[in-house]
Amino acid sequence: MKLTIDDVRSRFIKHLGGEQPGSVYTSPGRINLIGEHTDYNGGYVFPGAVEQGIIAEIRPNGTRTIKAYSIDLKDYDEFSIDDEEYPHGTHFRFIYGVAREMMALGIPVEGFDTAFAGDIPLGAGMSSSAALESTFAYALNDLFGQGKLTQMELAKVGQTTEHKYIGTNCGIMDQFISLHGKKGQLVRLDCNNGEFELFPWRPRGYKLVLINSCVKHELAGSPYNDRRKSCENVVGAIKTFKPEVATLRDCTSEDLEKVRSEVGETDYKRAKYILEENERVLAISEALKDDDYELVGEKMYEAHEGLSKDYEIGCEETDFLVGIALDCGVTGARQMGGGFGGCTINLVRSELYNTFIEQAKTQFYEKYKKHCKVIDVVIGEGTRKLC
Ligand code: GLA
Repeated sequence: MKLTIDDVRSRFIKHLGGEQPGSVYTSPGRINLIGEHTDYNGGYVFPGAVEQGIIAEIRPNGTRTIKAYSIDLKDYDEFSIDDEEYPHGTHFRFIYGVAREMMALGIPVEGFDTAFAGDIPLGAGMSSSAALESTFAYALNDLFGQGKLTQMELAKVGQTTEHKYIGTNCGIMDQFISLHGKKGQLVRLDCNNGEFELFPWRPRGYKLVLINSCVKHELAGSPYNDRRKSCENVVGAIKTFKPEVATLRDCTSEDLEKVRSEVGETDYKRAKYILEENERVLAISEALKDDDYELVGEKMYEAHEGLSKDYEIGCEETDFLVGIALDCGVTGARQMGGGFGGCTINLVRSELYNTFIEQAKTQFYEKYKKHCKVIDVVIGEGTRKLC
């Protein structure tokens, strides 16, 4: 992370006052190698934490009020943790939501002063909001809860905050990895039971790079939640003859064929994508054990095809960027994250890296008259206290 403790501390003192410094916590954003929209379907995901993240200084103030300053937005607000009414700014609502959900779990949260900042590009599909939630969930657990809640419980606090206070019915991937990330390791999570496995990420001769289309995806609201509904419709239809089914994870492609006409083509295609995406995560897990990065890349391209054509969460700009990757001979590329824009994730042979970046920048600018942004991936550490 480029932001330092001093960057945050100087603003904390300036905007919140007082003599005593607070404690400083940080949480990362994430990449996801493969496994998109599988999390809320009880499936597999394969994320890793990145070096970019959120950093926050927090100091209990002995009242029932949270006084919060967003350094990036130069925005200040104060709100009571006992007030039923949400603060207006979305960034403050995350903090309020986390505090309220921690209280609901019995953590005796009190008021605090905080200043926070981040270097995760917003809307890039790198989970800046999960990083914000995880920072505060971890910090409040530390400051008021004596570390009582587990990392997984803290991840669920963040997820519930998204559902109840923001309106995105997201899965658990982003908050999970923000809290559980390990330097230099990708994590394959089974969202059905919370079991996870670490995979050292050391692709000799390859690099992972994100190209941000800078098309901002808006997850809150219908498009994301609609996809989730489609999957639930299909599960509902399959349940009529297989009642034990809880999520698409428990369904086979034969089950899906049986309900095809009943659920309609759109929901059918979406569910088919999820079943195939789960298979791809497993295939990539095996390929990684064999250091077979060419197979990893092949699956990434397949995933893009599926998420763009069947799950319909792509966009023109990310399709274009994946097309450039393919033309340049890049090993694997796909749109990453919630969808409708943001970054593509690219697995590139080192000797091809410069050519690809050059081509992506030039061709993207020629077509859209705006710049895409290059973000080299370094797999970083999960949420922690800095001082
Ligand atoms: C967003 C959500 C996650 C996950 C991804 C898509 O990032 O927050 O839970 O569903 O989209 O894989």
